[in-house]
Amino acid sequence: MATGLNRRNLLLTAGVAAAIGEPGPLLAQNATAESIAKAPTDASGVPNSEKKINIVTLRDLEVDAQKVMAPFGFAYVSGGAGDEWTMRENQAAFNRWVINADFMNGTGSADTTTTLLGTKLSYPVIAAPIGNQGSVHAQADLPNVKGTNAAGTLYCVSSVSQLSVEEIASAAEGPKWFQLYIPRDPGFAREMLQRAKAAGYKAIVVTADVNVTSNRERSMRLHGAALPNLKMGNAPKTPGVTGSAMDMKGNMDWKDIEFCRKESGLPVVIKSILSPTNAQQALNAGCSGIWLSNHGGRQLDNMAAPMTTLPAVASVVKGKVPIIIDGGIYRGQDVFRAIALGATAVALGRPLLYASALGGAQGVQAAHTHLKNELTMVMRLAGTSAIKNITRDFVARAEGSNGHV
Ligand SMILES: Cc1cc2nc3c(=O)[nH]c(=O)nc-3n(C[C@H](O)[C@H](O)[C@H](O)COP(=O)(O)O)c2cc1C
Repeated sequence: MATGLNRRNLLLTAGVAAAIGEPGPLLAQNATAESIAKAPTDASGVPNSEKKINIVTLRDLEVDAQKVMAPFGFAYVSGGAGDEWTMRENQAAFNRWVINADFMNGTGSADTTTTLLGTKLSYPVIAAPIGNQGSVHAQADLPNVKGTNAAGTLYCVSSVSQLSVEEIASAAEGPKWFQLYIPRDPGFAREMLQRAKAAGYKAIVVTADVNVTSNRERSMRLHGAALPNLKMGNAPKTPGVTGSAMDMKGNMDWKDIEFCRKESGLPVVIKSILSPTNAQQALNAGCSGIWLSNHGGRQLDNMAAPMTTLPAVASVVKGKVPIIIDGGIYRGQDVFRAIALGATAVALGRPLLYASALGGAQGVQAAHTHLKNELTMVMRLAGTSAIKNITRDFVARAEGSNGHV
């Protein structure tokens, strides 16, 4: 990294540069477009693969992806904030719940299809919003959105993508939500909400937990900053409106939900809720969905895992709106346990990024297919034939665990 090159240019990948109509400097210096298209990585070392991958378990993907990802991309994706306690806790919290199987119930099949805010899904798993995917794959979001929609499920687009909302909307057929980091400039916020609606997005997801940049130390050690410095795909188009997708409103409150609903005319889902009190406030504010998340342990370290607070949140929400949870989900058993405790669907972050780095759209689709098959197996083994039948009775606290140990 100590090459004397401007870091923004260093991280501007060839594929992203092409997408935004700008020649990436490294592309211009070192490679032809043809060689980039053929190469497994682009000129700055970001993977550019599009191939079939075989998956035994999603847990293998991180180790495999590290071998093909550029070091800055891997540090950005794999790291968490501070001591990374919350990042580890997200996975650990699942194992405080055991599955009660009911083998002798005559069930011979399992149907994983479900509905989320009126949208039919092939299984109750969606793609979490991920910014800066230009550090994962030379085509940024494209492999993830194509692979996710091809798997029959929903893709949530981040407002800090290297591609615009319109470019991602037209890249694949299938349901999409738009996640907004509310910009500081209300004119730009209004523009993004209206553009998302016009581009066909079905809901707005408002992420609340990035009111300040956190201490992501793996990235800071490697390139001196918590975030990569990639070009943003969403820039203001309205005359007189300024701002950048990375210049976020740092003092959000519940009035922002009404603003987003009014300006977009779409249902608003709040992401970053962890407590029953906040869940009740979200219902009062008119949210159409509640997304339990601690950002994959990347923002405030030492927060609880979504799986730990899910039962209390579900008892406040009482089925009035869907609940989505994310963080540390790698197994069909994780999906099953989250649904049993009251989630409507779960979201995947890192596993899909590793799959994208390894195999592009085919890799992402393979990751979904693998998890769907694993969920089908778990449902068959546990003795339930439909998502709506995965009830609280199917899980119990692991012995010796009160949910907090
Ligand atoms: C590289 C990376 C970028 C992310 N970018 C965003 C983002 O732009 N917006 C957002 O709401 N969440 C973002 N998240 C958080 C994810 O949406 C999700 O909450 C988290 O990844 C779930 O945890 P998991 O990675 O363990 O599956 C990001 C996560 C990662 C790993």
